[in-house]
Amino acid sequence: MMFSQETLQRRRDLLMKKMGEASVGIWIGSPELIRSRDSTFRYRPSSDILYLTGLEEPEVILVLKPNEPEGHLFTLFVRPRNEEREIWEGRRLGPEQAKEQLGADQVFTIDEWEDKLPDLLVGAERLYYQMGLYPDWDPNILNLLKKAQRQAKSGKKAPRTIVEPGTLVHEMRLIKTPDEIELMRQAAAISAEAHRRAMAVTRPGMEEYQLEALLQYHFRVHGSVEVAYSSIVGGGDNAAILHYVENQYTLRDGELVLIDAGAEFSYYAGDITRTFPVNGKFTSQQRDVYQVVLDAEEAAINVCKPGHRFNDIHDTAVRKLTEGLIELGLLKGDVEELIEAEATKPYYMHKTGHWLGMDVHDVGDYYESDGSSRILKPGMVLTVEPGLYFHPEFCKDPAAEPFLGMGIRIEDDILITENGYENLTHAAPKTIADIEAVVGTEELP
Ligand code: GLY
Ligand code: MN
Ligand code: MN
Repeated sequence: MMFSQETLQRRRDLLMKKMGEASVGIWIGSPELIRSRDSTFRYRPSSDILYLTGLEEPEVILVLKPNEPEGHLFTLFVRPRNEEREIWEGRRLGPEQAKEQLGADQVFTIDEWEDKLPDLLVGAERLYYQMGLYPDWDPNILNLLKKAQRQAKSGKKAPRTIVEPGTLVHEMRLIKTPDEIELMRQAAAISAEAHRRAMAVTRPGMEEYQLEALLQYHFRVHGSVEVAYSSIVGGGDNAAILHYVENQYTLRDGELVLIDAGAEFSYYAGDITRTFPVNGKFTSQQRDVYQVVLDAEEAAINVCKPGHRFNDIHDTAVRKLTEGLIELGLLKGDVEELIEAEATKPYYMHKTGHWLGMDVHDVGDYYESDGSSRILKPGMVLTVEPGLYFHPEFCKDPAAEPFLGMGIRIEDDILITENGYENLTHAAPKTIADIEAVVGTEELP
């Protein structure tokens, strides 16, 4: 359990206060997924359920109902205890232990949902439920509403409005508390050291998957259960494929390799990209492009301050990349006009970052309620990840000829603090000098 009972209780209380009078919220746990035939992927609980209850088991439903006569009502549905299944598949909390350990007011078994859920809807006017998240559940919930509305004819209220609960829970998750920040520092530190080690063992002739294996070995040995997303290890022009995950080719002398990989630690994600020369020495062309991306990344990180807006980060990166592409001879003309015309798009086709937290592309709105870009606040964590890509097939500009096949991205995880920012992933080498000093200095274990 990564959070104390007090923390979880505080979150539920705050959420129920925001939900307001005469409302009820239902959260369905994510389903188990089949990997092949009768084997499933390792189960990853829904982030919202983890955040609000700490419960890690599949087949759960969470119901929160504020301001019941006896106070806020916290109800769980969980799997029943089952000797045979537990011998084969593992421990289960069961209703009694769930009540005791998680502090629920009432716990039912999951097979009781049809009987017990309608009563929980009665008396509420608003239902917080995320339609479309697990579409198999939507008809069940609509049937429940019908049932509750039938009961309502005898004088009680039943929900008439369905509200997306993310508007409340995801706004809470967007601002990380000190205990969450500590876990994110650990996820970031494990991820950063894995990147440093991957750089250190790299030599021409190695396989992309050998670097992937080292990264994942380092994550797991340090207590990370899963990667935060599939690791990308792309040598040469594979680096120009943004989400390349085949990781099956040989790393060649003279080429760059791009690694985008992060550990999930205690359900919090790290997300780092580094790009470096396979033989430990940048060619002059690689150096020139790399420095443009690095300058853009550092400039963009420098606008990560309370009061600035989320889009300022992307705008800053695009400006620096535009200036850099002019210096490289790839763009010509006035910087403002080139920015206006989105002239960097053929070489930089993604955004400069995203919120980071329990999900790698974490929750929370990117816009204020008036439609303007989100104002940065202490406790937000985001990535900054500009890049330049010269896909050998799709990059048509003859001026790009010297750079064809290169893909460079640099990505760090940034916490907004009271006075500025903290770079959680600073330990992963990224200046040209630091990278050249590391590559090829250690052996693959
Ligand atoms: N690794 C996914 C991302 O950087 O957004
Ligand atoms: Mn990212
Ligand atoms: Mn990434």
